[in-house]
Amino acid sequence: MNSPLANDRLLRALLREPVDRTPVWIMRQAGRYLPEYRATRARAGSFMALCTNPELACEVTLQPLARYPLDAAILFSDILVIPHAMGLGLSFEEGEGPRIARAVRSLADVRALPMPDPSVELRFVLDAVARIRRELAGRVPLIGFAGSPWTVATYMVEGAASQFARIKGLLQSEPRTLHALLGKLADATLAYLKAQIAAGVQVVMIFDTWGGVLSAPAYREFSLDYMQAIVAGLPRRHEGRRVPVILFTKGGGAWLDRMADTGADALGVDWTMELSVARRLTGDRVTLQGNLDPGLLHEPPVEIRSAVARVLASYGRGHGHVFNLGHGVQPDTDPEHVAAMIAAVQELSPAYHY
Ligand code: CP3
Repeated sequence: MNSPLANDRLLRALLREPVDRTPVWIMRQAGRYLPEYRATRARAGSFMALCTNPELACEVTLQPLARYPLDAAILFSDILVIPHAMGLGLSFEEGEGPRIARAVRSLADVRALPMPDPSVELRFVLDAVARIRRELAGRVPLIGFAGSPWTVATYMVEGAASQFARIKGLLQSEPRTLHALLGKLADATLAYLKAQIAAGVQVVMIFDTWGGVLSAPAYREFSLDYMQAIVAGLPRRHEGRRVPVILFTKGGGAWLDRMADTGADALGVDWTMELSVARRLTGDRVTLQGNLDPGLLHEPPVEIRSAVARVLASYGRGHGHVFNLGHGVQPDTDPEHVAAMIAAVQELSPAYHY
C-alpha cells in the first residue's frame, strides 16, 4: 500500500487550494549540474543505460531531494523513450544531444510505426515509478511526464536537434503525413501516461519544448489540438485524489488562454513573460508554474534572492503558483546557487499566502 502524503503542497497549489507557502521544484532537477548524478551516470555507462535501469533511475530521481527541501520528485526518464519504444534507435552522443537512427519522413514510414505497449516496451519506466513511490514513502508527490506529440515528432522527423527545416517542410507540403504521425504519437503518449498514473505518478506534465517555433494557427493545429486530446483522455482521479495535468509550451506565452481551454489544471510559463501578465491572460482559471530565467542561477546568491522576490511579487497574492525555472536547470549551474533559490522561495513566499 502507498503511504499518505506528508507534503501535498504541490498537489494543493496545482488545484488552487490554500497552501502555507509556494511549492517549488526544478525542471531537470536530477541532472548534470549535480556531481552525484554525473557519478551514477558514469556507473551506468550511458544516458540510455541510466534511463532503462529502474534501480539507477530511482537513485538519480531521489538525489536532488537528498540535497534540497523540494516539494516534488520528477521521474527520471526522457521524452524520447516513445520513439525508442517504437524501435527507431535512440542514442545520446556526448555533447551532441539525441540521435534517432531511423528518422520518419514519409507516410509509409508513419504507417510502419508500431504502437508500443507501455507494459512491455516501457516496462522499465513503470518499474522505476513503482520503485520511486516505494522509496519516497509519501514524503512528496511524484511527477510523471511525456513530450507533446509535436515536440517528439520534431526529433523523429529531423533525426536530431535541428532548426526544424524538415518537419516544417512536411507541415507545408504533406500536412496529412504529419497529422498521421501526430495522431499516432498522441495515442501512444496517452497510453503511456495512463500507464504511468496506474504505476503511481501523482501529477502529469506534458513538455512542449518546441511548440513555440510554430505560427499561432500552426500551433493550434499541430501542437495544441493533440495535447488537448491527451488531456481529454487522461483519467483525472487515482488513489482517491485528482491527478493534476500541467502543460508547458516553451515560447507559448501568447497562447496561455488557449492552453487553459484544454482543461489542464496548470500551465508552465517560461521566463519571457511576466507571471502578472500570464495571470491576467488566464483569468485565474489555472495554476501557473515558473518562471525564473535559468541563466540567473549563474549570478551570486544575493541576486538570485532578488530575482526570486521579483517572480513571487509578479504572481502576487494567491495560491495558484508553483515556483520553478522557466526551463531546465543548466548543466554548469552551481548546486549552491540552486540551494539559495529554494531557500529564498521558502523564506519569501509565505507572505503571499494568508
Ligand atoms: O526534469 C527532470 O529532472 C526529469 C528528467 C528529464 C530529462 N529529460 C532527463 C535528461 C526530463 C523531464 C526531460 C525532458 C526532455 N528531454 C525534454 C523536454 C524538456 C526540455 O528540457 O525542454 C526534451 C526536449 C528532451 C530531449 C533531450 N534529452 C535532449 C534535447 C537532450 C540532450 C540535451 C541535454 O540537455 O544534454 C536530452 C538528454 C537528457 N535528458 C539529459 C537529462 C538529464 C542529459 C543527458 C546526460 O546525462 O548526458
